Amino acid sequence: MSDTAIHVASVTKRFSGRVILDRIDLKVERGETLVILGGSGSGKSTLLRLMMGNIRPDEGDILVHPPGQEPPKSLRSLTPVELDDYRKSIGVLFQSGALFNSMTVADNVALPLREHTDLPDETIEIMVKIKLELVGLREHADKMPAMLSGGMKKRAGLARALSLDPRALFYDEPSAGLDPVTSAEIDQLIIDLNKQLGVTSVVVTHEMDSAFRIADRMVLLDRGKFIVSGTPDEMRNSTDPLVRQFVHGLTEGPLTDRRRGGAYEVDLLGSDI
Ligand SMILES: Nc1ncnc2c1ncn2[C@@H]1O[C@H](COP(=O)(O)OP(=O)(O)OP(=O)(O)O)[C@@H](O)[C@H]1O
Ligand SMILES: [Mg+2]
Repeated sequence: MSDTAIHVASVTKRFSGRVILDRIDLKVERGETLVILGGSGSGKSTLLRLMMGNIRPDEGDILVHPPGQEPPKSLRSLTPVELDDYRKSIGVLFQSGALFNSMTVADNVALPLREHTDLPDETIEIMVKIKLELVGLREHADKMPAMLSGGMKKRAGLARALSLDPRALFYDEPSAGLDPVTSAEIDQLIIDLNKQLGVTSVVVTHEMDSAFRIADRMVLLDRGKFIVSGTPDEMRNSTDPLVRQFVHGLTEGPLTDRRRGGAYEVDLLGSDI
């Protein structure tokens, strides 16, 4: 059995003729936490959506394992039922947590189970409790989302993402908008879930502290191009100027040189130059 959960093979994606991702090659290994790094607009969320099967590549291919299937299959070749099965086998946590405000926390978590399974209500109730326990929200099941703090909303979103026992979890900027302590707590939860449940996790972030805490491996994108992948130590010790600037948050380096080359940015930077 292959250890690769998702294989992005030379994928190019364009929007309105503009190349957003340029021949990206990437393997996500089973059980690992892979962090996708990159500046704003570098194509991170687009890459995530491609891996989730929400959008299709213009060129190249994405190989996944729909439940029960071996060897891997191209996302392109899946039947609608297989694609649906694949989507049900992954959990997704978006920036906002994307909870339904008119439902309690418990009902939000129960929703995918009610929609996608025929389980009886009593079983669903037990499963919801288990998921809420996993994210530390057992006591808050009956609250409405508006009563929750930002960190609790993320936890609730995560419990919902876990509701169908996914094999892979995708996170897009999980700590965006959170204070540093809450952000570190969410990171710890990501690590714990990865260990406890053995899920494969793909996390998009541009917060380096967070990336170093959770990653088994990191990849760096820049303007739609794959720059490098490596372990946190390899990234920390990289001598590549672009990687160094990004990872260490340096003010001098190719990223800023490039900005200074652009008229708009030169204007913005003004006396900085
Ligand atoms: N549906 C779409 N239609 C047209 N352009 C899009 C679409 N989705 C993304 N883009 C463009 O693709 C580029 C990459 O977007 P993407 O959201 O993947 O970047 P990102 O790395 O996630 O950025 P951020 O860190 O700001 O979230 C951006 O220039 C964006 O405007
Ligand atoms: Mg994004």
